[in-house]
Amino acid sequence: MSFRIVVLASGNGSNLQAILDACDPHMQVVGVLSNKPTAFCLTRAQHQGIPTAVIEHSHYPEREPFDAAMCEVIDAWQPDLVVLAGFMRILTPAFVNHYASRLINIHPSLLPKYKGLHTHQRALEAGDSEHGCSVHLVNAELDGGPVLAQMVVPVLKQDSAETLAQRVHKAEHLIYPAVISWFAHQRLQLNHGQIVLDGEPLLNPKRQYLA
Ligand code: GAR
Repeated sequence: MSFRIVVLASGNGSNLQAILDACDPHMQVVGVLSNKPTAFCLTRAQHQGIPTAVIEHSHYPEREPFDAAMCEVIDAWQPDLVVLAGFMRILTPAFVNHYASRLINIHPSLLPKYKGLHTHQRALEAGDSEHGCSVHLVNAELDGGPVLAQMVVPVLKQDSAETLAQRVHKAEHLIYPAVISWFAHQRLQLNHGQIVLDGEPLLNPKRQYLA
């Protein structure tokens, strides 16, 4: 039986594409959900015959019913893992608890640095020599939750927020499918809050450098 992945995305979906391209016969993206009807991620999914759904947050004045509507759609796809790939809505604790231990996110910074928005600009303004992205388990805190893996990219003297973002995107497209495959191939286990990777406790995020 294949490992069932549901992806939530709000925009272009380049991370979704990287995940789709990296799927092996044991991994299947079984649904893509967006909060934006015109998001290109939906087109990417449809091109590959993957079921899509849209739940527009603007139709829900409160977060709870929006998240409950999403849960209904997601649960019908029976996911083993729910993957946030540029999904730009804050999730309620009820949603996060519902998918506890099987909900992951990618964030464009080396967490715990630069939670929230404009991460590339903030790294430049701080004069950082390194920046990157993090894949983490999602908990009720925004961009919180234990970090599983990070990919570091250099910050170059001539970088703008755009050139830096492009480099981070490259790193994201490598690291996110890799972490998803840890789940799909049972390399990563969660034992009473402890993260175990390949039989060893994961005490610090796996760190790699973009070549
Ligand atoms: C990615 O850079 C991802 O890290 C970021 O949105 C972008 C989506 O790009 N996510 C966040 O900022 C979440 N806090 P994509 O639509 O091309 O995959």
